[in-house]
Amino acid sequence: MIITIDGPAGSGKSTVAREVAKRLGMRYLDTGALYRTITLLALEAGLVPERMVEAAELARTADIRLEARDDDLCRVFVGQREVTTEIRGPLVSQHVSAVSAVPEVREVLTAWQRQEAARGDLVLEGRDAGTVVIPDADLKVFLSASIEERARRRQLQLRAQGVEQALEELVAGIERRDSYDSGRAVAPLRKADDAVEIDTTGMSISEVVETIARLAQERKGAQRRRRLRPELGKLGRWPLSRLVRSPCDTLLWRFAYGFLPPLWRAAFRMQIKGRQHFPLQGAVLLASNHRSNLDPFFLGVASPRQIHFMAKAELWRVGLLGRIIGAFGAFPVNRGEADRAAVRRALELLEAGAVVGLFPEGHRHRDGTLGPINPGVSLFALREGVTTLPVVIQGSEKILQGKRLRFPRVSVTFGPPLTLPSAALPKAQRAQIIAEELRAAFFSLLGGTEGGNGAGCSAEAETPQGAQVSQGLGASHGTQASQRVGEGP
Ligand code: DC
Repeated sequence: MIITIDGPAGSGKSTVAREVAKRLGMRYLDTGALYRTITLLALEAGLVPERMVEAAELARTADIRLEARDDDLCRVFVGQREVTTEIRGPLVSQHVSAVSAVPEVREVLTAWQRQEAARGDLVLEGRDAGTVVIPDADLKVFLSASIEERARRRQLQLRAQGVEQALEELVAGIERRDSYDSGRAVAPLRKADDAVEIDTTGMSISEVVETIARLAQERKGAQRRRRLRPELGKLGRWPLSRLVRSPCDTLLWRFAYGFLPPLWRAAFRMQIKGRQHFPLQGAVLLASNHRSNLDPFFLGVASPRQIHFMAKAELWRVGLLGRIIGAFGAFPVNRGEADRAAVRRALELLEAGAVVGLFPEGHRHRDGTLGPINPGVSLFALREGVTTLPVVIQGSEKILQGKRLRFPRVSVTFGPPLTLPSAALPKAQRAQIIAEELRAAFFSLLGGTEGGNGAGCSAEAETPQGAQVSQGLGASHGTQASQRVGEGP
């Protein structure tokens, strides 16, 4: 995805663009730093103001390297020399507009920026990023702010670098650059017709970042849905799915769950808690503990949306069972192997904004204990735009004891969505953190005991943690897609 953020000097572009890039795990390019660097080199070479066209040659040959860093500014190097502070000094600021108005200079630097963009996932911040450099960017933003606010921001920025400059001087400088940048013949500063304009006066950085990140997610979601529509049409084995509201909802599910919930709830005196945590839109990975074969029904009754369960492939060999649960939206996974088809189907469903259900302990724990969580769950949980919702069921393990059928009280408790670990951590570590967080969430939703004592369900005999450890991959429903696959689809 390419995001362009254009706007006048001091509109907050640099900070916002850097934060947006960080937030979305994208690279960030401060194009102003490029123009400033060429201006510095041109000044040093005595090319300003008479021989500025020659600055294009400098732009072509100079070994310029930009490095994003955690504070406000990009670090800039020319060969081994760092020019980060110099390029933001008053002399460069005074001449940069004139140098950047030279068509030959712009031509070279535009090509440079396009090359960067061709590598994908980039937030490009500048003056003409959305109008000239990447006119077909996925999201174009134009930031504006009052001139006084912009001058104040620039003053703070300079102060942080140990440079003191009077506000009036900064206002005058910004006004001059504004009129120069907007009035120049080549690539003047202007809002692209399809850019979203955000007036940042009075807004905090995080509010602006939040707005842009949300717009980016929406655009991404829309693009994905467009891309996936034909793919979803091919949910071949689930032909009914095409007939209903969401491309992922199956007709049988909608029909059955139209009347099943009241009966089912009454039969098991069901308690449903935390339903407010369930997102009513978008991709959800519903991760549940697992105690009974009937758990998918309890979750189905308790959830406001259809859940597509990953279910063990053996069920498709029991008469019509596979077909029936398939019509309810379940899909098969082969246990004990890297089942790429199952992973693909789960990812397709998530990308289409559906709810995918997993039992990440791998198999049922009929004694009410919690098994270890298969870190393979992270393959789905770490996908962008996926909300991972922990949920626990209590009481379902008592329904079938021996050959006797009982109607115990059953509760379903949804927890708040998991917070994802920082994208900066290695993938394996993030997977481990997700697994630990999920287990902790299960544990806390169970009321702090493995057997659970909440929701009127008496605690079952507790076994020490890990006493009934499955290796996590063999499961009746679950993340059997395996860790091998977990390394990437
Ligand atoms: O964003 P900034 O203030 O660091 O930019 C410095 C100057 O560079 C600005 O006056 C206009 C020019 N510039 C440009 O013409 N095109 C860009 N894409 C970025 C900056």
